[in-house]
Amino acid sequence: MLNKRTFLIPLCLMMAGASAAGDYRPPEDVLAELIEKSGSLYLTQSEQNLMMMADNPASWTVEEGEALFHEPRGPNNVSLEGCDFGKGPGVLDGAYVEMPRYFADTGRVMDLETRLVHCMTTLQGFADDDPAVKSRHGSNSDMMRLQSYIGSKSSGYPWNPPLDHPLETAMRDAGKVLFNRRAGPMDFSCATCHSESGKRIRASVLPNINSPEEWTKAISWPAYRVGHQHVRSSQHRVRGCYWQMRQGQSVAGSDASIALISYWTDAARGQPAILPDMKR
Ligand code: HEC
Repeated sequence: MLNKRTFLIPLCLMMAGASAAGDYRPPEDVLAELIEKSGSLYLTQSEQNLMMMADNPASWTVEEGEALFHEPRGPNNVSLEGCDFGKGPGVLDGAYVEMPRYFADTGRVMDLETRLVHCMTTLQGFADDDPAVKSRHGSNSDMMRLQSYIGSKSSGYPWNPPLDHPLETAMRDAGKVLFNRRAGPMDFSCATCHSESGKRIRASVLPNINSPEEWTKAISWPAYRVGHQHVRSSQHRVRGCYWQMRQGQSVAGSDASIALISYWTDAARGQPAILPDMKR
């Protein structure tokens, strides 16, 4: 079992600094607090990961992303400081926990990845097939570096995706249907594996969408996946779970993928984000 002392120090620091909701907190402190509160088997399943949290290899990816974010790039030679992630151009603190959200300039609900692609192609002028935009799935892709940096600016903030615009509600509702819809050769839905605590597949303890403390960790991407030795995104997770269900692949940036992310983020509402996280 876990050594209580591992968590005592960060916990004391946290209580000393007792921050109002919506302040940055290091991911390892957020996780320690959730474990203390819930004692969840999902949260504590990998003692090795917990020990490594403070030295998460994704920290490098975050740093590289910070440099890329502020660097003038692309045919238009501008930085991403002009990109609006929902809280105004260049404002990143707490922006990611309020996504997906509706953007009036595109008339669409967009998740972080889709918004980033939009800014890189319009603002910076990259072509859709430029590797900077097209390559999305490794620690050394620009996309994962940028997402990791932007995500990290929301660590400790409570998930709070807006539901003011009718399209935001519609996407959340569509995501709920997708999550619960059984289909494919196995007749699985996402809910088959993710709606009870303590369910396992072999050694993996599965997160339960009805347990907010578990679910906030489940959806805290970008995360370093130890088994892949790469930082992965929310869109990559959606793809992976459709593959696990032996259903058709989801297309990154499609409304269906964003709807699912809208629903899963709404399900973690109010719980602090762990960014970047580490997963198995
Ligand atoms: C057959 C069971 C199964 C189904 C069905 C399933 N998943 Fe998963 N899911 C897993 C497993 C197992 C993991 C842990 C990651 C791994 O080891 O591959 C996981 C991980 C996740 C995670 C991240 C948590 C983590 O610790 O990695 C999220 C979020 C998630 N699934 C969402 C979904 C969504 C959304 C769907 C439906 C599109 C879905 N899952 C369908 C088994 C399933």
